[in-house]
Amino acid sequence: MYKPYTRPRRLRGSNEMRRMVRETNLSVDDLIYPLFVTRQTTPRKPILSMPGQNQLSIDELVKEAALVKTLGIPAIILFGIPQDKDAVGSDSFDDNGVIQTAIRAVKETVSDVMLITDVCFCEYTDHGHCGVIKDEYVDNDQTLSLLAKQAISHAQAGADMIAPSGMMDGMVGAIRNGLDDAELEKTPILSYAVKYASAFYGPFRDAVDSAPKFGDRRTHQMDPANVREAIKEAALDVEEGADLLMVKPALSYMDVIAGVKENFDLPVAAYNVSGEYAMVKAAAQNGWIDEKSVTLEILTSLKRAGADLILTYHAKDVAKWLA
Ligand code: PBG
Repeated sequence: MYKPYTRPRRLRGSNEMRRMVRETNLSVDDLIYPLFVTRQTTPRKPILSMPGQNQLSIDELVKEAALVKTLGIPAIILFGIPQDKDAVGSDSFDDNGVIQTAIRAVKETVSDVMLITDVCFCEYTDHGHCGVIKDEYVDNDQTLSLLAKQAISHAQAGADMIAPSGMMDGMVGAIRNGLDDAELEKTPILSYAVKYASAFYGPFRDAVDSAPKFGDRRTHQMDPANVREAIKEAALDVEEGADLLMVKPALSYMDVIAGVKENFDLPVAAYNVSGEYAMVKAAAQNGWIDEKSVTLEILTSLKRAGADLILTYHAKDVAKWLA
């Protein structure tokens, strides 16, 4: 009879043994919770394709931020949905815009939660594109100056970190320069450095009503088929002054997360996006998978791939599960 000399099963014999040799641990410290804020007076408007997530009034956002703090989650990322949208997304850089008002409201009541803002134009423009449109094309350089203006406005209102998500060339440099000129050199930039033109954003676009009215985002977001290009994108953002690098989406892009981690020494964040959340929710609601085990497995796998931080709509559940 053949008897193996090496027996990896010896390290799996008990829960204690498995705990001792576990290579990756998920912690509440890794989580960033995305929240949607509006001007509406209804406290919470459920987002149907993202069960458990809501569009929040500003008052309700403040309560949610307090709850996040109680759960020990270190950060939230805010998405603003303005009352009025226009061609250039003016609400996003208006000192009385939805996001600026929301930032101040949170900061007045809740301390010790990092407040990150998504900096882009798709939620704020009437055409749903991520910048200024010229001949049906998102004009890169005109958008850059408005991105800097938006970032400065967010930071002046009290945002702790700026997360540009528009995939414009030079966006990190333009924002870093703008922040520094406005004496906001202490504000870090979490760059959506590697963001793909993904179908996994579907539920999010319903949530913030940001689906483009014509065309798509493939002239600026990356082709899902490319990974060498991801390294180039990340390298540019490092040069331009990014403090942290994000890969988005997460689940189908673990090779990209691993590649970015290997090539750069900045912290890496992975965005476990709306479509990934919706798939887990839908299957769980049908009783086909166990939501808790599947979610913890996915998030642990993202960390194993190289993510230091994870943006996830499951953040509150995870904080409770890990407590
Ligand atoms: C752009 C932005 C998007 C998401 C985050 N920031 C949408 C897009 O690029 O179309 C998607 C997040 C998700 O799907 O959970 N402001």
